[in-house]
Amino acid sequence: MEIIILPTSAEVGRTAAAHIASLVSRDPSAVLGLATGSSPLGIYAELARGVELGLIDFGQARAFALDEYVGIPLDHEQSYATVIRTEVVEPLRMNASLVQVPDGRAADIEAACDRYEADIVEAGGIDLQILGIGSNGHIGFNEPTSSFASRTRIKTLAPQTRDDNARFFASLDEVPSHCVTQGLGTIMAARHVLLVAQGAKKADAVAAAIEGPVSSLVPASILQHHPHATIVIDEEAASALTLADYYRYVYEHKPHWQRVPPLPY
Ligand code: GLP
Repeated sequence: MEIIILPTSAEVGRTAAAHIASLVSRDPSAVLGLATGSSPLGIYAELARGVELGLIDFGQARAFALDEYVGIPLDHEQSYATVIRTEVVEPLRMNASLVQVPDGRAADIEAACDRYEADIVEAGGIDLQILGIGSNGHIGFNEPTSSFASRTRIKTLAPQTRDDNARFFASLDEVPSHCVTQGLGTIMAARHVLLVAQGAKKADAVAAAIEGPVSSLVPASILQHHPHATIVIDEEAASALTLADYYRYVYEHKPHWQRVPPLPY
């Protein structure tokens, strides 16, 4: 795991965006895994600036979203299909026909989940998966005790997740109780995973994921087994890490040829 601790949330967005810009400049038809939630919004905003300046082109990039709610209409302002369209596809000027979101409304959800997995394989797999982390350690919507081998499927949202996400809805009652999410096995199959976290509310989950035992009680801890995981966090999210100084030292001494070029704007 590479752990990058930065002073501010804004720098988290810029540094994570630089990883994505670097990939897409090398491989314009890269396959991205997109996350929703508030954590990656800074990444998308930084990338959108690069697109507006004509410095990055996502026109050929393909993408698969991590998850979707079950039980709200497609055009609901909080459906992840809507959020991905308004926060990612439009600002990054992606080709909408190359961007897929799991279908939370399919009559046969299991069949739709299997198709989603097959589509990812057919696209050649995900090159870079963006991730946030839930305060209970979830990634995507893989709640505690999710199988490490899980694939895209329907899940029941944990009460803590519904509480955390109530801020996006008019009331807690309106937060769906189910979702469709890529599994931990799906996420682990991505060639590179890039997790971002900001703020003190994430500090315990981040510490458990990075330094705790690998346990399905903290789904993000499975990333310790990923061959190429990059964790970009701000000081507050890093505040419960035992070895924070060591991670800073390693990052400062990273060989220059391994460094991702900073955004040129
Ligand atoms: C959400 C999403 C996750 C996200 C996490 C944290 O519900 N399903 O993909 O990473 O929970 O959300 P936030 O970034 O808003 O804190």
